[in-house]
Amino acid sequence: MAETVASRLSTTGTANALELRGVSRLFGALAALTDITMTVRPGERRAVLGSNGAGKTTLFNCITGDFGPSAGTIRLFGEDVTAFPPYERIRRGLRRTYQISLLFTGLSVIDNVYLACRGVSRGRFSLMRPRRGDPLLASARDLVDAVHLTHVRDTAVANLAYGQQRQLEIALALAGAPRFILFDEPAAGLSPTERRELVEILTGLPEHIGYMIIEHDMDVALRVADRVTMMHNGRIFKEGLPHEIEDDPEVQELYLGGAHGGH
Ligand SMILES: Nc1ncnc2c1ncn2[C@@H]1O[C@H](COP(=O)(O)OP(=O)(O)OP(=O)(O)O)[C@@H](O)[C@H]1O
Ligand SMILES: [Mg+2]
Repeated sequence: MAETVASRLSTTGTANALELRGVSRLFGALAALTDITMTVRPGERRAVLGSNGAGKTTLFNCITGDFGPSAGTIRLFGEDVTAFPPYERIRRGLRRTYQISLLFTGLSVIDNVYLACRGVSRGRFSLMRPRRGDPLLASARDLVDAVHLTHVRDTAVANLAYGQQRQLEIALALAGAPRFILFDEPAAGLSPTERRELVEILTGLPEHIGYMIIEHDMDVALRVADRVTMMHNGRIFKEGLPHEIEDDPEVQELYLGGAHGGH
Protein backbone atom coordinates (compact mmCIF):
# COMPACT_ATOMS: atom_id res chain seq x y z
CA MET A 1 0.00 0.00 0.00
CA ALA A 2 2.74 2.48 1.03
CA GLU A 3 4.73 1.65 -2.12
CA THR A 4 1.70 2.21 -4.31
CA VAL A 5 1.16 5.63 -2.76
CA ALA A 6 4.83 6.56 -3.20
CA SER A 7 4.89 5.56 -6.86
CA ARG A 8 1.63 7.37 -7.53
CA LEU A 9 2.89 10.62 -6.05
CA SER A 10 6.37 10.52 -7.59
CA THR A 11 5.29 9.86 -11.18
CA THR A 12 3.16 13.01 -11.40
CA GLY A 13 3.94 16.52 -12.68
CA THR A 14 5.42 19.45 -10.82
CA ALA A 15 2.43 21.80 -10.39
CA ASN A 16 0.23 21.09 -7.41
CA ALA A 17 -3.22 19.70 -8.15
CA LEU A 18 -4.67 22.25 -5.78
CA GLU A 19 -3.28 25.24 -3.96
CA LEU A 20 -5.39 27.41 -1.68
CA ARG A 21 -3.99 30.62 -0.20
CA GLY A 22 -5.87 32.51 2.49
CA VAL A 23 -9.30 31.38 1.31
CA SER A 24 -12.19 32.79 3.35
CA ARG A 25 -15.93 32.76 2.80
CA LEU A 26 -18.49 34.86 4.60
CA PHE A 27 -22.26 34.31 4.61
CA GLY A 28 -23.43 37.66 5.96
CA ALA A 29 -21.79 37.87 9.36
CA LEU A 30 -21.00 34.13 9.46
CA ALA A 31 -17.42 33.15 8.63
CA ALA A 32 -17.94 29.71 7.04
CA LEU A 33 -14.26 29.58 6.02
CA THR A 34 -11.39 31.56 7.51
CA ASP A 35 -7.90 31.80 5.99
CA ILE A 36 -7.65 28.31 4.50
CA THR A 37 -4.19 27.62 3.09
CA MET A 38 -3.51 24.14 1.79
CA THR A 39 -1.68 22.28 -0.96
CA VAL A 40 -2.63 18.98 -2.57
CA ARG A 41 -0.13 17.25 -4.86
CA PRO A 42 -1.15 15.66 -8.17
CA GLY A 43 -2.46 12.15 -7.59
CA GLU A 44 -2.75 12.78 -3.86
CA ARG A 45 -5.81 11.55 -1.98
CA ARG A 46 -6.89 13.80 0.84
CA ALA A 47 -9.58 13.23 3.43
CA VAL A 48 -11.34 16.24 4.95
CA LEU A 49 -12.79 15.60 8.38
CA GLY A 50 -14.72 17.87 10.69
CA SER A 51 -17.95 18.22 12.61
CA ASN A 52 -21.23 19.44 11.09
CA GLY A 53 -20.92 23.04 9.95
CA ALA A 54 -17.10 22.97 10.01
CA GLY A 55 -17.04 24.40 6.47
CA LYS A 56 -16.20 21.26 4.47
CA THR A 57 -18.87 21.62 1.77
CA THR A 58 -18.22 25.38 1.57
CA LEU A 59 -14.57 24.56 0.90
CA PHE A 60 -15.68 22.28 -1.97
CA ASN A 61 -18.00 24.97 -3.35
CA CYS A 62 -15.14 27.49 -3.43
CA ILE A 63 -12.83 24.98 -5.15
CA THR A 64 -15.42 24.12 -7.83
CA GLY A 65 -16.55 27.72 -8.29
CA ASP A 66 -20.15 26.95 -7.27
CA PHE A 67 -19.55 30.12 -5.33
CA GLY A 68 -16.54 32.38 -5.02
CA PRO A 69 -14.44 32.91 -1.92
CA SER A 70 -14.75 36.26 -0.12
CA ALA A 71 -10.93 36.41 -0.05
CA GLY A 72 -7.94 34.35 -1.13
CA THR A 73 -6.79 32.52 -4.25
CA ILE A 74 -7.35 29.02 -5.64
CA ARG A 75 -4.93 27.44 -8.09
CA LEU A 76 -5.75 24.29 -10.04
CA PHE A 77 -2.78 22.47 -11.60
CA GLY A 78 -0.76 25.68 -11.32
CA GLU A 79 -3.36 27.97 -12.83
CA ASP A 80 -5.18 30.68 -10.87
CA VAL A 81 -8.86 29.72 -11.29
CA THR A 82 -10.26 31.93 -8.51
CA ALA A 83 -12.37 33.97 -10.93
CA PHE A 84 -13.23 31.06 -13.26
CA PRO A 85 -16.82 29.76 -13.56
CA PRO A 86 -17.38 26.06 -12.69
CA TYR A 87 -17.35 24.84 -16.32
CA GLU A 88 -13.88 26.28 -16.89
CA ARG A 89 -12.67 24.26 -13.90
CA ILE A 90 -14.44 21.15 -15.20
CA ARG A 91 -12.62 21.65 -18.53
CA ARG A 92 -9.36 21.53 -16.60
CA GLY A 93 -10.19 18.14 -15.08
CA LEU A 94 -12.00 19.04 -11.86
CA ARG A 95 -15.11 17.04 -10.86
CA ARG A 96 -17.31 16.76 -7.81
CA THR A 97 -20.06 14.69 -6.31
CA TYR A 98 -22.72 16.24 -4.13
CA GLN A 99 -23.96 15.47 -0.62
CA ILE A 100 -27.42 15.17 -2.24
CA SER A 101 -28.07 12.81 -5.14
CA LEU A 102 -28.49 14.29 -8.65
CA LEU A 103 -29.23 11.17 -10.70
CA PHE A 104 -31.83 10.65 -13.46
CA THR A 105 -33.87 8.01 -11.64
CA GLY A 106 -36.02 7.05 -14.65
CA LEU A 107 -32.99 6.14 -16.78
CA SER A 108 -30.78 3.06 -16.60
CA VAL A 109 -27.32 2.99 -15.04
CA ILE A 110 -25.59 2.91 -18.43
CA ASP A 111 -27.74 5.76 -19.80
CA ASN A 112 -26.85 7.97 -16.83
CA VAL A 113 -23.15 7.35 -17.35
CA TYR A 114 -23.41 7.70 -21.13
CA LEU A 115 -25.11 11.09 -20.76
CA ALA A 116 -22.38 12.23 -18.39
CA CYS A 117 -19.73 11.15 -20.95
CA ARG A 118 -21.56 12.99 -23.75
CA GLY A 119 -22.15 16.07 -21.64
CA VAL A 120 -18.48 16.39 -20.77
CA SER A 121 -17.21 15.59 -24.25
CA ARG A 122 -19.56 18.00 -26.03
CA GLY A 123 -19.42 20.70 -23.39
CA ARG A 124 -23.20 20.65 -23.17
CA PHE A 125 -25.97 18.38 -22.02
CA SER A 126 -27.57 16.14 -24.61
CA LEU A 127 -30.40 13.58 -24.51
CA MET A 128 -29.24 11.51 -27.49
CA ARG A 129 -29.53 7.76 -26.88
CA PRO A 130 -26.39 5.61 -27.12
CA ARG A 131 -25.71 3.93 -30.46
CA ARG A 132 -23.79 0.71 -31.06
CA GLY A 133 -20.15 1.41 -31.89
CA ASP A 134 -20.18 4.82 -30.24
CA PRO A 135 -16.79 5.16 -28.47
CA LEU A 136 -18.49 7.04 -25.65
CA LEU A 137 -20.66 4.00 -25.02
CA ALA A 138 -17.52 1.89 -24.57
CA SER A 139 -16.16 4.51 -22.14
CA ALA A 140 -19.46 4.50 -20.26
CA ARG A 141 -19.31 0.71 -19.92
CA ASP A 142 -15.75 0.93 -18.54
CA LEU A 143 -16.90 3.45 -15.94
CA VAL A 144 -19.84 1.24 -14.92
CA ASP A 145 -17.32 -1.60 -14.44
CA ALA A 146 -14.98 0.68 -12.45
CA VAL A 147 -17.70 1.35 -9.86
CA HIS A 148 -18.72 -2.34 -9.63
CA LEU A 149 -22.16 -1.93 -11.24
CA THR A 150 -21.71 -4.22 -14.26
CA HIS A 151 -24.45 -6.59 -13.05
CA VAL A 152 -27.04 -3.77 -12.91
CA ARG A 153 -25.90 -1.87 -16.00
CA ASP A 154 -29.34 -1.88 -17.63
CA THR A 155 -31.37 -1.46 -14.43
CA ALA A 156 -33.33 1.77 -13.91
CA VAL A 157 -31.70 3.94 -11.27
CA ALA A 158 -34.96 4.05 -9.28
CA ASN A 159 -34.60 0.28 -8.72
CA LEU A 160 -31.03 0.41 -7.40
CA ALA A 161 -30.11 0.06 -3.76
CA TYR A 162 -29.05 3.32 -2.12
CA GLY A 163 -25.40 2.29 -2.02
CA GLN A 164 -25.47 1.43 -5.72
CA GLN A 165 -26.82 4.92 -6.47
CA ARG A 166 -23.86 6.42 -4.63
CA GLN A 167 -21.50 4.20 -6.64
CA LEU A 168 -23.16 5.46 -9.82
CA GLU A 169 -22.50 9.05 -8.76
CA ILE A 170 -18.80 8.20 -8.64
CA ALA A 171 -19.02 6.90 -12.22
CA LEU A 172 -20.56 10.21 -13.31
CA ALA A 173 -17.67 12.11 -11.71
CA LEU A 174 -15.23 9.88 -13.62
CA ALA A 175 -16.66 10.83 -17.02
CA GLY A 176 -14.34 12.69 -19.40
CA ALA A 177 -10.76 12.28 -18.09
CA PRO A 178 -10.90 13.90 -14.65
CA ARG A 179 -7.65 14.74 -12.89
CA PHE A 180 -9.03 15.72 -9.51
CA ILE A 181 -12.36 14.81 -7.89
CA LEU A 182 -14.13 16.21 -4.85
CA PHE A 183 -16.33 13.62 -3.10
CA ASP A 184 -18.80 15.07 -0.59
CA GLU A 185 -19.64 12.34 1.92
CA PRO A 186 -19.98 9.40 -0.50
CA ALA A 187 -20.21 7.01 2.47
CA ALA A 188 -23.12 8.79 4.17
CA GLY A 189 -25.98 6.37 4.81
CA LEU A 190 -24.10 3.31 3.54
CA SER A 191 -24.19 -0.09 5.26
CA PRO A 192 -20.89 -1.62 6.45
CA THR A 193 -20.80 -3.84 3.33
CA GLU A 194 -21.46 -0.88 1.04
CA ARG A 195 -18.72 1.07 2.82
CA ARG A 196 -16.21 -1.71 2.13
CA GLU A 197 -17.23 -1.64 -1.52
CA LEU A 198 -16.78 2.15 -1.63
CA VAL A 199 -13.29 1.86 -0.15
CA GLU A 200 -12.41 -0.73 -2.83
CA ILE A 201 -13.72 1.52 -5.61
CA LEU A 202 -11.86 4.61 -4.38
CA THR A 203 -8.56 2.83 -3.75
CA GLY A 204 -8.91 1.13 -7.16
CA LEU A 205 -9.21 4.38 -9.15
CA PRO A 206 -6.45 5.07 -11.71
CA GLU A 207 -3.33 6.32 -9.93
CA HIS A 208 -3.14 9.69 -11.68
CA ILE A 209 -6.58 10.70 -10.38
CA GLY A 210 -6.30 12.60 -7.12
CA TYR A 211 -9.22 13.40 -4.90
CA MET A 212 -10.49 15.08 -1.78
CA ILE A 213 -13.12 13.23 0.20
CA ILE A 214 -15.31 14.61 2.96
CA GLU A 215 -15.91 11.78 5.34
CA HIS A 216 -17.30 11.52 8.85
CA ASP A 217 -16.30 7.89 9.31
CA MET A 218 -12.69 8.01 10.49
CA ASP A 219 -12.11 4.36 9.52
CA VAL A 220 -13.12 5.00 5.90
CA ALA A 221 -11.15 8.26 5.74
CA LEU A 222 -7.99 6.66 7.01
CA ARG A 223 -8.19 3.84 4.48
CA VAL A 224 -8.76 5.96 1.35
CA ALA A 225 -6.47 8.92 2.07
CA ASP A 226 -2.73 9.67 1.85
CA ARG A 227 -3.17 12.72 4.08
CA VAL A 228 -5.92 14.07 6.30
CA THR A 229 -7.09 17.64 6.88
CA MET A 230 -9.21 18.19 9.93
CA MET A 231 -11.45 21.28 9.94
CA HIS A 232 -13.16 23.00 12.84
CA ASN A 233 -15.23 26.22 12.83
CA GLY A 234 -14.18 27.13 9.29
CA ARG A 235 -10.47 26.74 9.91
CA ILE A 236 -7.88 24.02 9.40
CA PHE A 237 -7.43 22.47 12.80
CA LYS A 238 -4.88 19.77 11.95
CA GLU A 239 -3.23 18.27 8.91
CA GLY A 240 -1.07 15.18 8.66
CA LEU A 241 -0.66 11.54 7.76
CA PRO A 242 -3.65 9.34 8.61
CA HIS A 243 -1.97 7.72 11.63
CA GLU A 244 -0.79 11.12 12.93
CA ILE A 245 -4.35 12.45 12.84
CA GLU A 246 -5.78 9.26 14.31
CA ASP A 247 -3.32 9.34 17.24
CA ASP A 248 -3.57 13.10 17.86
CA PRO A 249 -4.99 13.74 21.37
CA GLU A 250 -6.67 17.01 20.31
CA VAL A 251 -8.37 15.30 17.37
CA GLN A 252 -9.51 12.48 19.62
CA GLU A 253 -10.92 14.95 22.10
CA LEU A 254 -12.77 16.82 19.35
CA TYR A 255 -14.17 13.61 17.87
CA LEU A 256 -14.96 11.76 21.07
CA GLY A 257 -15.93 14.87 23.01
CA GLY A 258 -19.28 15.22 21.24
CA ALA A 259 -18.36 17.89 18.68
CA HIS A 260 -18.77 15.29 15.93
CA GLY A 261 -22.40 15.30 14.85
CA GLY A 262 -22.34 12.35 12.46
CA HIS A 263 -24.92 11.66 9.77
N1 LIG B 1 -25.41 29.00 1.11
C1 LIG B 1 -25.27 29.29 2.42
N2 LIG B 1 -25.83 30.38 2.98
C2 LIG B 1 -25.67 30.67 4.28
N3 LIG B 1 -24.93 29.94 5.14
C3 LIG B 1 -24.33 28.85 4.64
C4 LIG B 1 -24.47 28.45 3.27
N4 LIG B 1 -23.75 27.30 3.07
C5 LIG B 1 -23.21 27.00 4.28
N5 LIG B 1 -23.55 27.91 5.20
C6 LIG B 1 -23.10 27.90 6.61
O1 LIG B 1 -21.70 27.81 6.63
C7 LIG B 1 -21.25 26.93 7.67
C8 LIG B 1 -20.47 25.80 7.05
O2 LIG B 1 -21.36 24.96 6.32
P1 LIG B 1 -20.88 23.73 5.44
O3 LIG B 1 -22.08 23.23 4.72
O4 LIG B 1 -19.70 24.12 4.66
O5 LIG B 1 -20.43 22.71 6.59
P2 LIG B 1 -20.02 21.18 6.47
O6 LIG B 1 -18.71 21.05 7.17
O7 LIG B 1 -20.12 20.70 5.08
O8 LIG B 1 -21.15 20.49 7.39
P3 LIG B 1 -21.93 19.07 7.23
O9 LIG B 1 -21.02 18.06 7.89
O10 LIG B 1 -23.17 19.30 8.03
O11 LIG B 1 -22.18 18.82 5.79
C9 LIG B 1 -22.51 26.47 8.40
O12 LIG B 1 -22.68 27.29 9.53
C10 LIG B 1 -23.61 26.69 7.38
O13 LIG B 1 -24.84 26.94 8.00
MG1 LIG C 1 -21.26 19.31 4.10
